[in-house]
This record gives sequence, C-alpha cells and structure tokens, in this order.
Amino acid sequence: METVLSGVRPTGKLHLGNYLGAAINFVKMQENYKCFYFIADYHALTTHTKAAMLRDSSLNVLIEYLAIGVDPEKATIYIQSHVPEIAELYLFLNMFAYKGELEKCVTFKEKARKEGQTLNAGLLTYPVLMAADILIHKAHKVPVGDDQMQHLEMTRNFAQRFNHYYETEYFPIPQAFNNGEELLRVPSLDGMGKMSKSDDGKSAIFLVDDEVAILKKIKAAKTDGGPSMPNQIKPIEIENIFFLMKMVSDESTYQFFDEAYNNCSIRYGDMKVQLAKDMNLYVKPFRERILELQSDEAYVRKVARNGAEKARESAQKTIKDVRDLIGLNSLH
Ligand code: ADP
Ligand code: TRP
Repeated sequence: METVLSGVRPTGKLHLGNYLGAAINFVKMQENYKCFYFIADYHALTTHTKAAMLRDSSLNVLIEYLAIGVDPEKATIYIQSHVPEIAELYLFLNMFAYKGELEKCVTFKEKARKEGQTLNAGLLTYPVLMAADILIHKAHKVPVGDDQMQHLEMTRNFAQRFNHYYETEYFPIPQAFNNGEELLRVPSLDGMGKMSKSDDGKSAIFLVDDEVAILKKIKAAKTDGGPSMPNQIKPIEIENIFFLMKMVSDESTYQFFDEAYNNCSIRYGDMKVQLAKDMNLYVKPFRERILELQSDEAYVRKVARNGAEKARESAQKTIKDVRDLIGLNSLH
C-alpha cells in the first residue's frame, strides 16, 4: 500500500485554499492509502511565531483536521515536533542540498527580498526540513496546493541524490498529488495572489467563518464595471469569483452567471449574494464541528498523543535504516 503524507503550518486558521488545494484530499486518500498528516510547527518557527500563538494554532489546526473529516482511526495525525527523528533526518539531508538551489527557491527569494541579510538560515533550508517530513515515512504521494510544487521538486532531488550516493533505492521518489489532476491554486478575494492564512483575513474565507463574515468578505471582493461586449475574456478578479463559484455552487448556478456574463446582463451584486449563500452552506458543517471540538480539548490532545506514538514508530525505523546506510551505527 502506498504512503501519503502532508502537513499544514500552524500559522492561523484553515481557509478554503488549504481545504480545496490540499486537505480535501487528506480525507479522500485516507480510505485507500497509509496516511500521515501533521502540523508543521518546526516550519512555523522559521517566521518567528510567538510561543502562545504557536500553541494555540497547533491545537487549532489539529481541531480543523478532525472537523473536515480526517479520521484518527484511518490516518496518523501528529505534531511535527513530537517526532524529533524528523530533525535528525533534516540534518542528514542538509548534506545533499546545494546552497545554490536553496537560494533559487522562489519562496526563499521572496522572503530574502523583504528581509535581506537578517534572513535566518532556517528559511533557507525550509525545503530540506520539508523533505525530511516526507522521507521520514518514505511517502509516495503528497497532497498539496500549487504553491508547493517547487518544494516537492527539491524533495525529489534530495531523495535521488541520497539514493545515488549510498547506492540504494531506499527512498521512494515522492510526487505532489491532487487526485490525478493539476495542483490547485485558490485565488485571494482581493484579486492579488493566492488565498493565504497570513494575509489580513479579509481576502480569505476561513472554514470557521460564519454567514455574516462570509457575506461581508465576498461583497468586498473586487469587481469591475461589467463586460461591454458579449463573450469577453474575464479579467482576473472576475475569473476568481467564478472560480470560487465553480468550487462551491451547483453547476447550474455557475452556468447561469456565466451566461449572464457572456450576454452582458450580469449583476455582480446578485452573483456575490448567491456565492455567499452557497459558500456558507459549504463551510457550515466544518464550522459547526470546529466549534464542537473546541470544547473537547481532552479528546484532541489524546489524538495528538496517539498520533505521535504511531508516527515515531515509523520514523524511528527510517532513522535506524538511514544511520545504517550512512555508516553511523557501526560502533554500536
Ligand atoms: P498558507 O500559505 O495559507 O499559510 P500553508 O502554507 O500552511 O498555508 O499550506 C498548507 C497547504 O495548503 C499546502 O498544501 C498548500 O499548498 C495549500 N494551500 C495554501 N494556500 C492555498 C491556495 N490558495 N490554493 C491552493 N492550495 C493552497
Ligand atoms: N511547506 C508547506 C506549506 O507551507 C507545509 C509543509 C511542511 C508540508 N512540510 C510538509 C506539506 C510536507 C507537505 C509535506 O504549505
């Protein structure tokens, strides 16, 4: 049976981008694969998250995993830092990561542009830690959104180099995965870039958002004066609203507004109200379950403890094998 692994950084609340880009597949894949889903708290440290915020967010992401339907009986759910073997594998993999390629990584370059010389080394080696996450359980498939494509490519390189150097096929070469389709990128409501946890919260729909918040955010989404000719190409901010509608509304609703756009009779106000209504129906079950689980912290902590135990068992096996392959266990 193939192994699946993925993670989310505990830097805030899960949004529709996290869900549609990655987490929806966590739930689907737990039926047919051996699955590991974790909370990437080591990764959150690269952007200097405060301790209280890290604790709250880690608990919150765990609750949200459960709320969307990740089942601890079917998948192993754990917190990254509960499995210190990951940090050891990270050290080994650092020997196979080239400084030049790490500096060329797009997410690193963006941060480097903003922070310059004080950028920490953890950010430079972020992709190596991510590779350690994936390889520690010898995963084959990694359900992630489009923004993680380059990181996955780097994991593949490190795994290949390790295998080649030690003349082994120990690590499977993992693949980014979205149900056999292209990786997804859910746009932000402000028309700029992807929906993200770390923006101001106005341009992301969170799974925990209520009806009022959803309507307010969707109403504020940028639109234009409307099409002036039939069958005009949609500008990006309009395309984004249609994209969201395609994701959460009925096909016939989408068709209705698409035709209205194409024959220039569209009223964005009506479309937004409809989208907000459908969006609310879409996230409501998650919201309700999140609120329920928030009052059952004992259960959530138990899930984390059991998950850590299972994840460590798997990780310890890999670390032992890797130490043997590298030649580190020889004097034991
Ligand atoms: P964020 O960027 O919002 O902080 P993370 O970096 O923790 O979220 O991402 C967790 C998962 O969600 C990753 O697999 C990532 O690719 C996916 N993801 C995040 N934002 C989007 C988006 N807007 N569209 C599709 N997938 C996304
Ligand atoms: N880097 C991912 C993100 O920002 C989170 C992550 C860390 C991850 N380790 C991973 C995702 C391993 C998949 C597999 O979204």
